[in-house]
Amino acid sequence: MSKKIAIIGGGNLGTAIAEGLISSGFVLPKDIIITKRNIDTLSALKAKGINVSNNNNEAAAFADYIIFAVKPFQIKDVLQQLLPSLDKSKHVLASVITGLWIKDIQEMVGNDFAIFRAMPNTAIAIQESMTCICSSNAKPEQINYVNELFDKLGKTVFIEEKLMDAATVLAASGTAFALRFIRADIQAGIEIGFSAATASLIAAQTAKGAADLLLIRKTHPEQEIDKVTTPKGCTIAGLNEMEHQGFSSSLIKGIVTSYKKIVNDM
Ligand SMILES: NC(=O)c1ccc[n+]([C@@H]2O[C@H](COP(=O)([O-])OP(=O)(O)OC[C@H]3O[C@@H](n4cnc5c(N)ncnc54)[C@H](OP(=O)(O)O)[C@@H]3O)[C@@H](O)[C@H]2O)c1
Repeated sequence: MSKKIAIIGGGNLGTAIAEGLISSGFVLPKDIIITKRNIDTLSALKAKGINVSNNNNEAAAFADYIIFAVKPFQIKDVLQQLLPSLDKSKHVLASVITGLWIKDIQEMVGNDFAIFRAMPNTAIAIQESMTCICSSNAKPEQINYVNELFDKLGKTVFIEEKLMDAATVLAASGTAFALRFIRADIQAGIEIGFSAATASLIAAQTAKGAADLLLIRKTHPEQEIDKVTTPKGCTIAGLNEMEHQGFSSSLIKGIVTSYKKIVNDM
């Protein structure tokens, strides 16, 4: 029998997960329930056959896998209210809540549940997320299921939980870093003659193609760069000038600064 999934918190991320799971065919709409307090905003999902509810306990009674996608400050109340409906022999818990550690969940529900913590990024809305996942107490078949679930929403990697802050910076903040690179590309493209619309298309598709070269061929960036840089050519001249101006160094420093901020402040 197919597993049933509850998504507690039908906001940006919760609805993106629901949309991705049904459009990929991973789960039938009738096997998902999504909750929030004001369910008016879930009418589009309801029209697709997904169950919607403002009752988290009803969702827990329905589901095998429960995905928590509320804001960090809301999870304590949600879990306290849900506690009587949770059953460690039936439920697997998964959280996509930033900064919420598995031990924080265990403090509220006890140590016996299989618990997953996942960190997707905003590209989950188009099923192109990079999702980093860790788990506690999970059986191999539960790990396979959660892996498969998030694979339908992009790419996944299992990591140790101590790397979750680093994953937040590299994968979630990473979307902003990549977009700032593309924005600079667009600004330069306009200066050398393109309209904003054409420069945006060229910059975005070129970045996507470059990333796909690495993902599909599993090559190192420098191997692909070598194919573009002819001796005495324009590409190497531009690249070297960028490095003289601190391109790689500024990116690395920015990422390390974000990491220090998350570790020290949050
Ligand atoms: N957005 C992303 O790409 C992203 C990426 C990684 C991680 N995250 C994490 O994912 C979580 C959700 O982010 P988001 O952007 O989707 O936030 P959001 O749009 O504010 O969604 C949170 C939802 O939770 C619902 N909610 C609040 N209290 C509830 C309750 N007691 N029972 C059921 N639902 C309740 C809210 O609806 P009502 O007010 O109607 O109840 C709201 O729709 C956050 O913890 C964030 O850190 C987000």
